[in-house]
Amino acid sequence: MSADKQPGRILMVGAGKMGGALIESWLLKKTINPSDVVLVEPRVSRAKYFRDAYSLYTFETPEAINTGLGDATILFAVKPQAMDEVVPLYKPLVRPGRLILSIAAGTPISYFEQHLGQDMAVVRAMPNTPASIGHGITVLCANKNVTKEQKDRCETLIGAVGKVEWIDDEQLMNVVTAVSGSGPAYVFLLIETLAQAGISAGLSTDLANRLALSTVAGAGALADQAEESPAMLRKNVTSPGGTTSAALEILMADEGLGSLIERAVVAAKERGRQLSES
Ligand SMILES: NC(=O)c1ccc[n+]([C@@H]2O[C@H](COP(=O)([O-])OP(=O)(O)OC[C@H]3O[C@@H](n4cnc5c(N)ncnc54)[C@H](OP(=O)(O)O)[C@@H]3O)[C@@H](O)[C@H]2O)c1
Repeated sequence: MSADKQPGRILMVGAGKMGGALIESWLLKKTINPSDVVLVEPRVSRAKYFRDAYSLYTFETPEAINTGLGDATILFAVKPQAMDEVVPLYKPLVRPGRLILSIAAGTPISYFEQHLGQDMAVVRAMPNTPASIGHGITVLCANKNVTKEQKDRCETLIGAVGKVEWIDDEQLMNVVTAVSGSGPAYVFLLIETLAQAGISAGLSTDLANRLALSTVAGAGALADQAEESPAMLRKNVTSPGGTTSAALEILMADEGLGSLIERAVVAAKERGRQLSES
């Protein structure tokens, strides 16, 4: 990355699964220098890991930070239920020029404006778990205070763990969460159920598991790389009257997979709405 694209200092709040994956991607891809990552992580073993492995500045609390932050991005990567305890502690660290970036599911932009200041630049992000291997997709939504440079900074930081999309209407975040945020779990369930069906039909457990996993992974990779749409890829492997066709007649029936997934996404979206209002 060229020097003018360096995203500046990052104050990372929480280095669990997602925060840790982000830090490791930045450092391995040289998106950012280790000396520009300041980590607040109360879990001693986790902080020690990042200190020993990458020489990061680590602190147990924000009050203990004794290094300059400049126009840092303050990235909240703690559990949504910890936000009420954590976010107000950062009020003394906010000032114009600094950017708030949050990956907490269900925590709206207005929450950060309320606790940290209406004039703060805030970006809300919804990543998903394949980010842990650099294959995530993250949807971002900015408030009106966010500059073009700050949006570019977010794309650089979040782009280190996969693809990035923007939405203007924050209301859509609950649908995004229901599709891509929770979506990996639907796919894991597909692997489990496909394997189980194979076992029920006579395959050994090991073989059924391997077939189901490689089929879903391979089909996903093909759909990602192919020029054809998923619908076209499906038609291409479905001979009239053949085996795939016999299965798809069941999966694509009125009460089949389409209607099930639709109900699942509506339920997840509704739960997201309830959680963000509670
Ligand atoms: N994982 C995903 O796939 C995924 C997907 C989408 C969005 N997200 C969002 O990402 C955020 C983090 O999720 P996660 O799965 O990475 O959770 P996690 O593994 O539990 O990580 C949270 C980390 O923050 C630490 N922490 C707790 N209190 C803190 C404090 N006061 N200051 C600084 N750090 C603190 C935790 O330490 P302790 O363990 O000691 O409490 C833990 O290491 C959540 O808001 C979640 O909604 C995650």
